[in-house]
Amino acid sequence: MTDPSSLDPSSVDLSALPRDFAWGVATSAYQIEGAVDEDGRAPSIWDTFARTPGAIDGGDTGDVACDHYHRWPEDIALMQELGVDSYRFSLAWPRIVPGGDGPVNAAGLDFYDRLVDALLEAGITPNATLYHWDLPQALQDRGGWPERATAEHFAAYASVVAERLGDRVPHWATLNEPLCSAWIGHLEGRMAPGLTDLTAAVRASYHLLLGHGLAAQAIRAAAPRAQVGIVNNLSPVEAASDRPEDVAAALRVDGHTNRWWLDPLHGLGFPADMREVYGVDLPERAGDLATIAQPLDWLGLNYYFPAVVADDPTGPAPFAHQVYRPEVPHTGMDWEIDASGIESLLLRLTEEYGARRLYVTENGSAYPDVVRADGTIDDVERTRYLGEHLAACARAARRGAPLAGYYAWSLLDNFEWAYGYDKRFGLVHVDYETQRRTVKGSGRRYADLVRAHRHRTARAA
Ligand code: IFM
Repeated sequence: MTDPSSLDPSSVDLSALPRDFAWGVATSAYQIEGAVDEDGRAPSIWDTFARTPGAIDGGDTGDVACDHYHRWPEDIALMQELGVDSYRFSLAWPRIVPGGDGPVNAAGLDFYDRLVDALLEAGITPNATLYHWDLPQALQDRGGWPERATAEHFAAYASVVAERLGDRVPHWATLNEPLCSAWIGHLEGRMAPGLTDLTAAVRASYHLLLGHGLAAQAIRAAAPRAQVGIVNNLSPVEAASDRPEDVAAALRVDGHTNRWWLDPLHGLGFPADMREVYGVDLPERAGDLATIAQPLDWLGLNYYFPAVVADDPTGPAPFAHQVYRPEVPHTGMDWEIDASGIESLLLRLTEEYGARRLYVTENGSAYPDVVRADGTIDDVERTRYLGEHLAACARAARRGAPLAGYYAWSLLDNFEWAYGYDKRFGLVHVDYETQRRTVKGSGRRYADLVRAHRHRTARAA
């Protein structure tokens, strides 16, 4: 084995990956589409939040983003250039059902219909996420995720979409990173809708999971062959010291970040220790836990960084904070780099939760890219991050994780939420002045790897 930092194909144990391994790239609607008031789309909570003074670095918004709404044919051509098998994208609820419930906007559905057909024509398998944080503002005005009705409206929207696209989209995710919607959006206030209210956050977490279960049922009713999953962002958690307070804090953060989501999805109910930590009554009704624990055809893992935490009794729940360790390498987001985290999480999902099919649905890194005079971008740090994490994925597969695919975050540089456009995660650089796309060095190396895996499996056939 050679140095994984080079992302040389020989640095990743390709023989550990299945022949039909899905090599993919991922994006989400609000981060790339732009066209926020075209063809009947109504505002989402992110349109509102982005207009809140001070909420987003540089006062950026998703109004134009990567203009993907108009440039999608070019973006599909880029995917073909990278040689990927699959594209994970999200559908904008406020484009399809602008009021959150009620009338369907045909033009919104048509957009995704054309996208799906063009992907299939290009030989790229669509993997659609129903909710990547862009709740129709009209539903927020009626209480948003803390209200049970939002989960029910979500299922109705899922049904509309699956009826239209379910004949062609094989893979469906209900939610992307419900942790961010609930905890960052309702407790920490750093994402839409920008609340800092523990009761609202816990209720939102409950209704997001309920919405997942109801939507999974709705997708299957409309498209019986659909492969339905959910995408969670998880972190391995380590105590910053062996002080008993920090060790206890690590257990709480594991509950907050990982178990609160995974346990109910797998029929284990909401963790008792965390119910006590939050001290908030859940809006439970008979049958909800069974609805939440719908069988999963696959489970998606988004991995970026490990959590190293210390006790923080005066902070918000779960009364712990992330520790910054200057001696450890960080990405441009100030997130610690530790590829072993992706391996341990894939194995945990396999061994502790019995996952039968896993996808890494997001993994990637932001760095300040330098565009050279000749227009090229040699993003060695991102390339190294990618190589190390792919090597760790292959190790997990070798050790028994049923890993079926990997989606690099992201196809394009895009709107990085509260950080605006300053943080670039793309394998493809976007010049926001001209909307010119340029494949970065990391994108080229990723394409080499995809090709190498394909040659290997063709040879073995
Ligand atoms: O850009 C986000 C994405 O929307 C959700 N997962 C994490 C990415 C990087 O922060």
